[in-house]
Amino acid sequence: MNIRSETISDYPAITEVNILAFGQDNEAKLIEEIRHSDRYIPELSLVAEVEGLVVAHILLSYIDLVGKETFQVLGLAPMAVHPRFQRQGIGSALVQVGLEIANIRGEAIIIVLGHPQFYNRFGFEPSVNYKIESPFSVPEEFFMVKPLQSYQEMHKGKVIYPPAFEMV
Ligand SMILES: CC(C)(COP(=O)(O)OP(=O)(O)OC[C@H]1O[C@@H](n2cnc3c(N)ncnc32)[C@H](O)[C@@H]1OP(=O)(O)O)[C@@H](O)C(=O)NCCC(=O)NCCS
Repeated sequence: MNIRSETISDYPAITEVNILAFGQDNEAKLIEEIRHSDRYIPELSLVAEVEGLVVAHILLSYIDLVGKETFQVLGLAPMAVHPRFQRQGIGSALVQVGLEIANIRGEAIIIVLGHPQFYNRFGFEPSVNYKIESPFSVPEEFFMVKPLQSYQEMHKGKVIYPPAFEMV
């Protein structure tokens, strides 16, 4: 398996993997919207290849954390592994590489809405532990954060997603 940042020629395969993983095209459309926005970070749109084929994708892009100050922080979404390649460690490997790149970039914190069974292993914790408020009415354990080396206590407040996320 090889993990690298996306290139333009990966776009169709990324669309397909997302449609197959989610059973709908909303996430694939969200990725396209983000790519066209100022929230897109090319090096944090990562693909996993097996034998030269893209089988998984993860996107980290900027969202807002609004407290006394507003910070741009990383939102992890969407993330998709081709159904035939799930539960083989590929999703975990993508998250690990995403965390490493985010740390090297000096990002403060990563925010995700997802399955705690999957994200807890990387050190994600309920956002309430860090005084970070979810914009979604979901149980606390599903809205998680992973503070990075540059995290400071001032990184707290309410999370605001760009309008493009309303489609998922
Ligand atoms: C969730 C997903 C990204 C995980 O990627 P993956 O490569 O299958 O995950 P890994 O093999 O690295 O890790 C497997 C672990 O993830 C968790 N996991 C995987 N799929 C899960 C699911 N649908 N529900 C809950 N937990 C899940 C399990 O804890 C599993 O551990 P186990 O095999 O020991 O039980 C992938 O299964 C997927 O694309 N699912 C459909 C799309 C989706 O739901 N994306 C949103 C992610 S929040």
